[in-house]
Formats: sequence, structure tokens, C-alpha cells
Amino acid sequence: MAEEKKLGIGIDFGTTNLLVYVQGHGIIFNEPSVVAFDIESGEVIAGGEEAFKMIGKTHSKIKVSRPLRDGVISDMDAAKALLKYVFKRVQTLRSLKNSLCLICCPSEVTQIEREALKDLAHQMGISDTFIEEEIKAGAIGSGIDIYSPQAAMIIDIGGGSTDVGVLSLGDVVLSRSIRIAGNYIDREITNYVHKRHNLLIGPITAERIKNEVSTLLPNDKEKKIRISGRDLVRGLPSAAEVTSKEVFELLLPIFDEITNVVYSVLEQTPPELASDIVNNGIVIEGGGACIPGVKEYFEKTLGLSVRTAPEPLNAVVEGAKVLLKNKGSYLINPQD
Ligand SMILES: Nc1ncnc2c1ncn2[C@@H]1O[C@H](COP(=O)(O)OP(=O)(O)OP(=O)(O)O)[C@@H](O)[C@H]1O
Ligand SMILES: [Mg+2]
Repeated sequence: MAEEKKLGIGIDFGTTNLLVYVQGHGIIFNEPSVVAFDIESGEVIAGGEEAFKMIGKTHSKIKVSRPLRDGVISDMDAAKALLKYVFKRVQTLRSLKNSLCLICCPSEVTQIEREALKDLAHQMGISDTFIEEEIKAGAIGSGIDIYSPQAAMIIDIGGGSTDVGVLSLGDVVLSRSIRIAGNYIDREITNYVHKRHNLLIGPITAERIKNEVSTLLPNDKEKKIRISGRDLVRGLPSAAEVTSKEVFELLLPIFDEITNVVYSVLEQTPPELASDIVNNGIVIEGGGACIPGVKEYFEKTLGLSVRTAPEPLNAVVEGAKVLLKNKGSYLINPQD
């Protein structure tokens, strides 16, 4: 009897962004990992982009939560609610019966938490759920042939954590994770604007500064961004200008810390694998890889060749597609 084929669902459950891929439909969800609840009824009133827009603007009857913080699940109820929210979205396209779900999450998510996510998927009617390290999926989605005996090194600079891993023969040989990534940079920007410009800004403004004017290129053309917040002296709304040069100075010590983690992984890498990395270089992915000059920065500090993943923010979900295919779920449309 022919083996029954299942519909594949791939999820990148990141600290900042949640991506969902459904075979035959492509990436059907690519929105912030945020969920909003009605406090009285406990009902989910918004998820993703819609919930993100509510951050910092709610009243006492609404609670907005980010399920993950710094690469770990900080609010399990919110994590389950958000996952349920996206499964319901999938249900509007396809039945979850006879489906196979692959959830990619940060390495620091515990076994108990992984089981809880699997239970939820099961309750939603999904027959098989697998949890995979995001660094493995990210490496595949970045175009690395992780099944070859040639070792590869990957640096994933996400929102909550930066993960550095060495992969060989289909799995992670060693990895390290630090809670210094996009959100940390945002907090450093907030502190800086507070001290230097006497202005209190919110997390969304800090992220905008990072995404619009950050650079790691010492001689990059200067960019400026006008932002507003609350003046700390007068207590009134006020505006200021932040330059790419200011953000560059902030980023250097942060990336030095990331480099130290890369060094420590390289130091622990067995010699044969280390020599492969010298030959093949390093791949960077995750939202942090979008900062102009990251590739050049690592090439200079590490003295190794560095390549940026073709789609840094989608690498994990792209890898999930491949892993689903390998697990034997069926592909309705090969273009997806
Ligand atoms: N153009 C950009 N320049 C700088 N940072 C960016 C850019 N675009 C996105 N980011 C940042 O990348 C981070 C999100 O990246 P990503 O989606 O890879 O993280 P995540 O998978 O949600 O988090 P994690 O992997 O840590 O759980 C955010 O901090 C976001 O602000
Ligand atoms: Mg990620």
C-alpha cells in the first residue's frame, strides 16, 4: 500500500517575527510575534501585525504580549495563543487533519516548552509535529548543504538572540547562543537617545532608528533620521535627529561581543571541521544580517570569508520547506 502523504506546515517561531509556510500556498503569515488579549474574557483579539500596532497604546482591558523574549519563551499562554491563532489561519485554507508540522524555534526553548507546543498542535488536529533548531533550518534555507561531510558555520542574528553554530553531516555539531541581537540593539539605542538627546522613546521608534540608519561601514555615507518622543526635562513631546554615525559607534562594542562568541565557537571546533570553515567561510542570516556592512565587519574581524544568506529574514522558513520535503510530506505545487 502506498504511504499516505501529509500536508506540510513549516513555522519559524522567532522572538520578533513569526513565519508560517503551508505547502501549496507558500508563506501565508510573516508578521510580528505579538498577540493581544481581552483581559476579562481571555479571548485573543488580535495577532501579528494588528497586535503589534497596539503595543504601548492599549487601555486597562487589553493586554499585548510577546511570547518570546531574548530567545526564550517568556509567556507560555501567549505562545500557545499565537500558535493557535496562526493554525486557525491555516485552517481557512486547508484542513489540519493529516498534516505534518515542523516548528523551528530558538535553541534555548526547553524540552517542556517544546512538548507544550507539540501538545497544542495535536489539540488543533495536526497528526505529526516536529521541533527543529532554527539554526539548522536557517543553514539549509541559506543554501548550505548541511548533509555533506564539509562543515559549515552559520551566524543567525535574530531579534532575541544571536546563535552561532557549526553543522556537519546533517546536524548541529556545536552552537552557542547569546541574548545580544536586534532587541538588545534597540534597547541600547533607547538608552543612548535618553542620555544624549534627553528624549524618552518607545521600542518601535528605537527599532526604526536601527533599521533605517544603522551601519557597520566606517566610511558609509551619513544618514539621518528624525524621531520624536517625550522630552525628559520639559516632560512634553519633542523631536530630535539621530545620525548613522551615532548608531555606528553604538554598534561596534555590540558586534565585538558577538565576535567573541564566534571566536569561542571556533576555538571549540574540532580541527578537521575548523579547516572546512576556513575553506568555505561563514554564512550570516537573521534580521541583523541586513545591517549594511555586517559581512565586511566579520570578514575583517575574523579574517574569514563571509556570505549573507539570500533572504536573511526568511532563511529559517525556507529551510523548513526543505526539511518538510525530506520528511515525506507532499508538495502540491513544486514552485512553493
Ligand atoms: N534592515 C534591517 N536592519 C537592521 N535590523 C533589522 C533589519 N530588518 C530587520 N531587522 C531586525 O532583525 C530582527 C528580527 O530578525 P529575525 O526575524 O531574524 O528575528 P527572530 O527570528 O524573530 O528572532 P530570534 O531568532 O532571535 O528568535 C529585529 O530586531 C529587527 O528589528
Ligand atoms: Mg530567528
